[in-house]
Amino acid sequence: MVSAGLWLFSQLNARSRRLTSFHYVKWETADLSVLITYNALCLNVDSFPFSIQKGRGKMRKACKPVIAVHGGAGTWDPERSQAALKSVKEAAETGFKTMRGGGSAVDAVVEAVAFMEDSGNFNAGAGSALNIEKRVEMEASVMDGATLQAGAAALLSDVRNPVRLARLVMEKTDHVFVVGKGADDLARMFGLERRQSVTAAQLERYQAQLKSLLAGSGYLPRLADLIKAHPEVFQLETVGAVALDCAGNVAAATSTGGFPLKLAGRIGDSPSIGCGTYADNRSGACSASGVGEIAIRLVLAKTVCDYMGNGRAPQEAAEDAIALIKERIPNSYNVMGLIAVDVNGRIGAAHSTSNLCWAYMTAALEEPVASLKAKLVK
Ligand code: GLY
Repeated sequence: MVSAGLWLFSQLNARSRRLTSFHYVKWETADLSVLITYNALCLNVDSFPFSIQKGRGKMRKACKPVIAVHGGAGTWDPERSQAALKSVKEAAETGFKTMRGGGSAVDAVVEAVAFMEDSGNFNAGAGSALNIEKRVEMEASVMDGATLQAGAAALLSDVRNPVRLARLVMEKTDHVFVVGKGADDLARMFGLERRQSVTAAQLERYQAQLKSLLAGSGYLPRLADLIKAHPEVFQLETVGAVALDCAGNVAAATSTGGFPLKLAGRIGDSPSIGCGTYADNRSGACSASGVGEIAIRLVLAKTVCDYMGNGRAPQEAAEDAIALIKERIPNSYNVMGLIAVDVNGRIGAAHSTSNLCWAYMTAALEEPVASLKAKLVK
């Protein structure tokens, strides 16, 4: 009787065709055909984040993580876009390396978003837009698709990396969403780094935005009129990331300074779970950018995940969600951008703004691919 041991994948999830656990099995000669069938099945599914490889005489896993990041939907003029493209590329690389080094999808999206928060090139962290009172009110969220745990924080004035506070809310508290003074206190308690609340660069940008606004109507009209009259102030460079790690888990994170010149106390989609951020191992992960009030009303990130859970590829899911906005909320400020990854490692990105600054990295690439365009949905 021949007897040997092998690590075999098993328990294929019927819908997503993902492998969810390993089993150590013994086989005997009579079972050999079963084993061959089983291995063939595993090797045919080549879009997994990992695959079986022969290495030094024994079977080992190859880690094939996937990450996509965005630096925001909006209009990127040539002057600013080069630095932004470089930053999204580096952010994708940061997240990818985190997973290649054994980190989880949550680690990857947090590190990628923290990188973009620190860059100063986006409307998040160091580059946050100011509200109408000339103050910073940042917000961020993160979600773990393996556990459906989520954390979010908002109305932050000087926390260096709002996404790290969101993660602490997720992992160290019983809550999902903490805002304002309570969130600031929590950041202090956990010893998170702070940053100067309002910098000269932020003030300069605020003045330019305000000047544009006042040159038009002389007072603050409703949002639709503001955007129609002054598309140049409509810069929505929220940042976000979605990832699939080597264990097959997905995660998403999003961070923003919010809508430029927003009312004090306004909270958008970025920290609102399901709206700007969602992740579920049964479908995939999504991060949104654009007009928060639109994403909130359509629970947009969850909608994209539901589309993927029902069998649509991430690209189709993102495009369909943008189309849904146009169908259900046909106003003049219904512009959004979306990135998504599914549990098979496929990536999708779509937008209705002129640009979406984004990048992605997979094991098949030498370096991240970055672009100012994805699929434009008109
Ligand atoms: N999506 C960013 C915001 O509306 O605040």
